[in-house]
Amino acid sequence: MEFMELVTSRHSVRNYLPDPIPKEVLAEILEAGRLAPSAQNRQPWRYLVLSNNEQVKKLALNCGLIGLSNIFIRSAPCLIVACADTSKNVRINQQDYYLVDTAISLQQMALAAWNRGIGSCWLAAFSEKPVKKYLGIPAKWRVVALLPLGYPAESKTMYTKAMSFFAGSKDRLPLDKIVSYFSQEDQ
Ligand SMILES: Cc1cc2nc3c(=O)[nH]c(=O)nc-3n(C[C@H](O)[C@H](O)[C@H](O)COP(=O)(O)O)c2cc1C
Repeated sequence: MEFMELVTSRHSVRNYLPDPIPKEVLAEILEAGRLAPSAQNRQPWRYLVLSNNEQVKKLALNCGLIGLSNIFIRSAPCLIVACADTSKNVRINQQDYYLVDTAISLQQMALAAWNRGIGSCWLAAFSEKPVKKYLGIPAKWRVVALLPLGYPAESKTMYTKAMSFFAGSKDRLPLDKIVSYFSQEDQ
C-alpha cells in the first residue's frame, strides 16, 4: 500500500475474525517494530506475543477492572504485549524516553499489520499489576500497551460501534490547530 493510503485508511479495529495470522506475516510485523529508532539506540522495547485465541481470552480475564472495557480483545487470534525494559531508559530534560521509543516501535508494527490487511487497536486501559503477574513479566519492565491483532470482522457489533464512538474514532484536529510556523519576525 502507498504510505499516505496506509496512514489514512488505518483505524482501530475492535472486532476480529478467528483466522490466525500466518507465521511469516507475524514475523514481518515484529520486524517492523525491531527496526524502529530509539533514543541513543537503546531499544528498550520487549514484546511478549500471545499467538492464539485461547491465550488472548485468558489474558482478557487478567487485565483488572478497567480492562473489562476492552473485553473485545477476546475475539483476537493474536495479541502483542508491548513492554519496556526501564533499565534501558534514556532520561533527558526530565523526560523518560522509553515510552516514546516503545510507542514508535509498536506503531510501526500496527502499520505493518494494516499493510497486510490486519487490524489492531492500541490499548492502555488495563491494570498493569495483574497483567504482569499473570504473564510473569520482570519487575523492571513496564507494560506500555496491549495490541490485539486480527483480520477485521465485517459486521461491527453494537458494542464495538459504541467503543469507536466513545473513543473519538476518526476525528482529527485540523492542521492549523496543531501546527504553527516559527517566524523570526515574531521575536
Ligand atoms: C496510547 C493509546 C491508548 C489507547 N487505549 C485504548 C483503549 O484502552 N481502548 C480502546 O478501545 N482504544 C484505545 N485506543 C484507541 C484510540 O481510541 C483510537 O486510536 C482513537 O480514537 C483514534 O481512532 P482510530 O485509531 O480509529 O483512528 C488507544 C490509542 C492509543 C494511541
